[in-house]
Amino acid sequence: MSDLSTANPSRAKGFDVQAIRRDFPILSQEVNGKPLVYLDNGASAQKPQAVLDAMDRYYREMHSNVHRGAHTLGDRATTAFEGARETVRRFLNAGSTREIIWTRGTTEAINVVANGLAPRLKEGDEILVSHMEHHANIVPWQMIAERTGAKVIPIQVTPEGELDLDSFNSLLNERTRILALAHVSNVLGTVNPVAPLIEQAKKFGVLTLLDAAQAVPHFQPNMQELGCDFYTFSSHKLFGPTGIGVLYGRAELLEEMPPYQGGGEMIERVSFERTTWNVLPYKFEAGTPAIAEAVGLGAAIDYLNALDRPAMEAAEMALLERANELVPSVPGLKILGNAARKVPVLSFTLEGLHPSDLGTLLDQQGIAIRTGHHCAMPLMDFYGVPGTARASFAFYNTLDEVDQLFAGLQKIQRLFT
Ligand SMILES: Cc1ncc(COP(=O)(O)O)c(C=O)c1O
Repeated sequence: MSDLSTANPSRAKGFDVQAIRRDFPILSQEVNGKPLVYLDNGASAQKPQAVLDAMDRYYREMHSNVHRGAHTLGDRATTAFEGARETVRRFLNAGSTREIIWTRGTTEAINVVANGLAPRLKEGDEILVSHMEHHANIVPWQMIAERTGAKVIPIQVTPEGELDLDSFNSLLNERTRILALAHVSNVLGTVNPVAPLIEQAKKFGVLTLLDAAQAVPHFQPNMQELGCDFYTFSSHKLFGPTGIGVLYGRAELLEEMPPYQGGGEMIERVSFERTTWNVLPYKFEAGTPAIAEAVGLGAAIDYLNALDRPAMEAAEMALLERANELVPSVPGLKILGNAARKVPVLSFTLEGLHPSDLGTLLDQQGIAIRTGHHCAMPLMDFYGVPGTARASFAFYNTLDEVDQLFAGLQKIQRLFT
């Protein structure tokens, strides 16, 4: 636990959702005259008081720039900042903090990897992604493909919203260089069976990256078990602050990759004749980093560690079950994504109503959901819809809130379709 933690270890036993909600100050407000029902956690999750306190305390008591400490505040800031890196390492069960790179988020992390692997790619090489990826795990690869002559090839998705394993098997071959997959789909909630796919890819010498933006808020990953080469996520979806994220990478690959940006911090020595790079992880961290944000992310992970994780996961599954039970109560409601293994995410359309109107009408009832293409246009094309409405749940949501969502949908269906 980092020394800035204010997480309450008394929460360790059982799962009292009302007590947990009191840890999140933003949840106890009214929106449009109604108690807020926040179901847009997939876009960005709310922050516990422990995170707000850690960042506040950091700025009040220890802020200075890191790694140059000729003075006490510099040392304190560096200790807090590097302590957060160690917290992330433990969260991922990574072998070393050299493998934990701070980025601005998942998007930047994937760009760092795409840029870093570009020198390995040549004409005719293939990069496998899937049809259910967020644009963040498509576009960086397309940009690198354009530079190198490689091709980006999508693995098909089944109508239920699972990866089509026959498609995967038929596409994986000796030309494949990279497999870049969502650990969890942001639209469908599907938890992809990544471990066996990584194992298969390795047989072809393929490098593997997982986009875990939607995975880590729901379960704790283990780098030693997954065996992937790169793992990426964003703090703001993991109950931490915006502006920071994580790239885990295997050290020997990171050593080989060129830096992403040049500047201060990432160098060992600079001269006009020859500049050399700093050691890992700093080689990939040009410029003054997001120090308070790293501290905030460390506090968010400490907070999660103090919860009863199995109880939390069971509570989340109960939310999804309740939602699924209530689906037939709204005529014309169609769910996209019925994978056997899902996190609590529900993407839907309501016959006769555009998803954005649905979002506005729910907002009037204090219910926050997301509508649109969810940065997954190829998946929208696959399902033949311009967009969907998406309710994405977190462990602080209640069964009562699920009921309110469906009561809202029933009302909208009666009045507007
Ligand atoms: C699966 C997935 N990947 C990547 C991202 C991009 O995350 P960020 O905008 O924090 O970089 C998101 C955000 O919604 C996402 O859901």
